[in-house]
Amino acid sequence: MFSLKEKFKSKIKALRTKVRMIVKEYGNVKISDVTVTQAYGGIRNVKCIITETSAVDPYKGVRFRGYTIPELRERLPRASGGEEPLPEGMFYLLLTGELPTKKDVEEITKEWRKRSTLPKYLINILKTVPKDTHPMTQFSIAILSLQKDSIFTQKYKIGMNKADYWDPMFEDTMNLLAKLPLIAAYIYRRAYKNNKYISVNPHLDWGGNLAHMLGVKEEEFKELMRLYLVIHCDHEGGNVSAHTTHLVGSALSDAYYALSAGINGLAGPLHGLANQEVLRWIMKLIRDLGETLTQEQLKKYIWDTLNAGQIIPGYGHAVLRQTDPRYLIQREFALKAKNPWPNVDALSGCLLYHYGIKEFDFYTVLFGVSRAIGVLSSLILDRALGLPIERPKSITTESLEELVKKPPKQKF
Ligand code: MLT
Repeated sequence: MFSLKEKFKSKIKALRTKVRMIVKEYGNVKISDVTVTQAYGGIRNVKCIITETSAVDPYKGVRFRGYTIPELRERLPRASGGEEPLPEGMFYLLLTGELPTKKDVEEITKEWRKRSTLPKYLINILKTVPKDTHPMTQFSIAILSLQKDSIFTQKYKIGMNKADYWDPMFEDTMNLLAKLPLIAAYIYRRAYKNNKYISVNPHLDWGGNLAHMLGVKEEEFKELMRLYLVIHCDHEGGNVSAHTTHLVGSALSDAYYALSAGINGLAGPLHGLANQEVLRWIMKLIRDLGETLTQEQLKKYIWDTLNAGQIIPGYGHAVLRQTDPRYLIQREFALKAKNPWPNVDALSGCLLYHYGIKEFDFYTVLFGVSRAIGVLSSLILDRALGLPIERPKSITTESLEELVKKPPKQKF
């Protein structure tokens, strides 16, 4: 058996026992209350989802299995001659909770390469989609189209022990992750490069190959892609793409259904689409005011935008109350990369733009390729833990009014 799968399998029993014990011993302990404001306000801060792969501290940012981004930049294996961590290693870490060796990572690269070929039917489907369809729509269609090959669904139909659900989920995830860079590059080259496709380089890793197939020649861009795919992969379980993937998967929908749904959530301007919106906003600012604007002009422009009831994309976050460490690491990369086009506030977009990926609408697809690593790792874990279908209770405004107006004693 492929050693990542072996390693994951060896951890399942202990994890199940631990969770069973926690539920048995502490099942009635309250971990969160819900206020009326939270119920109407996006369920902010209500602790009610279990996600093992990462956690976000409002003041320190994301930790992946307990590790910060700078720690992982040091400790995850890199491509030979490279300085940035390989996303394959992140997948290993998120799934098992352990840091991979170079050999572990090479094995994943090899396995994904083996599984990466796109079926003819998928290409035929994509060819029928109008080229000006948003790349995120195309990406979601491509993922969903592959559902016909879901091993989970095939095995479920035949009949499977619940304890084994994680196994075909693992296989579907491997097949899907292997194909995502090819799908992304296909969509990009078809929409923007006159159908001129670039074949896989069998000597490159997953992220390096994505950079290569997009058509950017600079070696540095391969490094950027590796870093980009690592840092965008997970942001605990409550964000829209992670929660959606988890929710849809909880109905035992397979990885294709679940990821496609998660990607649809990522396509929203308040979530993943923000990185295209940031650059669009900056380009408009430059068009309106020119490149040599003063601080005062910038301040006025920002206030005018806010006073018109619009947002400044790329600023603010549902959870974070400090500068996002994912921003900081990209800034570090940007400074190393010979000063890309001068605004460092919208770095993912700025960096992509700097290397010639100038089609903003495509940016969120790259986010989606990365996010798949995190949300699919969690999906495998969900099945290993046998988590049930998610079904929170909803109430109407009328019944809520009744509930809150009752004297406290009878409230619950
Ligand atoms: C993410 O990476 O998912 C975003 O920062 C949004 C979030 O965490 O809510």
